Amino acid sequence: MAGRARTRGCTVIVGCQWGDEGKGKIVDVLAEEVDVVARYQGGANAGHTVHVGEKEFILHQIPSGILHPGKRCLLGNGVVLDLVQFFEEVDALQARGVDLEGRVGVSRRAHLLLPYHRVLDRVAEEAAEEKIGTTGRGIGPAYEDKAGRRGIRVADLTDERRFGELVERGMDRARARAGGLGAEAEAALERAMAEAVALRERLLPLAVDTGVEVESALDRGEGVLLEGAQGTALDLDHGTYPYVTSSNTTAAAAATGIGVGPTRISEVLGVVKAYTTRVGNGPLPTAFDPEMDERMRALGGEFGATTGRPRRCGWFDAVLARHAARVNGLTGIAVTKLDVLDTLAEVSVATAYRTPQGEMTEFPADTFGLDRVEPVLETLPGWESSTGAARSLDDLPPNARRYLDRVEELAGAPVRMVSVGTKRSQIIHVE
Ligand code: IMP
Repeated sequence: MAGRARTRGCTVIVGCQWGDEGKGKIVDVLAEEVDVVARYQGGANAGHTVHVGEKEFILHQIPSGILHPGKRCLLGNGVVLDLVQFFEEVDALQARGVDLEGRVGVSRRAHLLLPYHRVLDRVAEEAAEEKIGTTGRGIGPAYEDKAGRRGIRVADLTDERRFGELVERGMDRARARAGGLGAEAEAALERAMAEAVALRERLLPLAVDTGVEVESALDRGEGVLLEGAQGTALDLDHGTYPYVTSSNTTAAAAATGIGVGPTRISEVLGVVKAYTTRVGNGPLPTAFDPEMDERMRALGGEFGATTGRPRRCGWFDAVLARHAARVNGLTGIAVTKLDVLDTLAEVSVATAYRTPQGEMTEFPADTFGLDRVEPVLETLPGWESSTGAARSLDDLPPNARRYLDRVEELAGAPVRMVSVGTKRSQIIHVE
């Protein structure tokens, strides 16, 4: 990173598609330059894959910054904290030699995701007429409890008796909503709950006020990254509702989800994959035909980091990218997995959607109509050579640069970074 200015102030990293854009790698690269990395929404539904040397780490809740020694990593109030999974992740990182001592903080205002939320997630999916294809991690039910003002927060762990009462109430409600569990499921849930409740004392020392911490860090002139999970098209308000996650994934939620005002945010970097993928149900307007879908999935290794499900693949969708640029107020974009397109003779981008009423250039609110649009594709020549060794834009083949220029022009935000492989070093910084 020699020669590069340190990232100062507060930068939000946000996904601009349906998640899986490669935010983990971008956060990992930028984390080197900052002091604090914080998650502001979502939970263990996220899966951020980071490669360090020959090792692969898949992080679900702890920010990707944890792989840089000495960086402070926070989980903000906007996160739903899966206690059991969180400590599994802590233990797994420690077992692989990552020193976490004094480095992880969790907001006292964060809501707990408990084993009964997973049960309720499954029950809701089984009953739903239009299945969302959730990750099954209990995310929707945990946010429902939060909005329903019956959630349990990290702050509630302080008073053991009150915590016990809240857990009992939560269990009773879960049993009622599930319509009875059956002896085996009840026993399994009781065991999982006992395991979760026993983690109370382990979590308490990590509880902090993330707003105060981030504000103080910024006042000291330190750099802070606020790391989004999932992507803009999965945002509860701005995504393809109801095929979305249950939190606001977009940049404005970073302020609320960590506990600082929006005026503290200085940059918003949107992460876009050089093509599009989607896991779970819901429309994907630029979807490939089955043969190309298979080919890209193999080229890009497009399988869910959390569930292992195959991701559907399609061309870069500039209608969505423009929507993402606007709703997130992007100050720049990071294009990832450019190298995955290296072998293609031609690459296309969707510039609009074709509908019976004419061409549409704004991402629509009507999700079910989105299922019926045809992408208006613009085809560019491929570069048919390897980009993995490029470390500056000048190192790229002319057609790859042309593709990036077109992506930048269509998205309406400047390209700041380009990732050309899974390794930390395989990155182009555009000053
Ligand atoms: P949930 O967040 O588990 O409720 O799932 C809701 C939708 O968001 C489903 O389509 C999931 O596949 C999708 N989703 C949730 N988290 C991620 C992620 O980290 N990457 C990609 N898709 C995700």
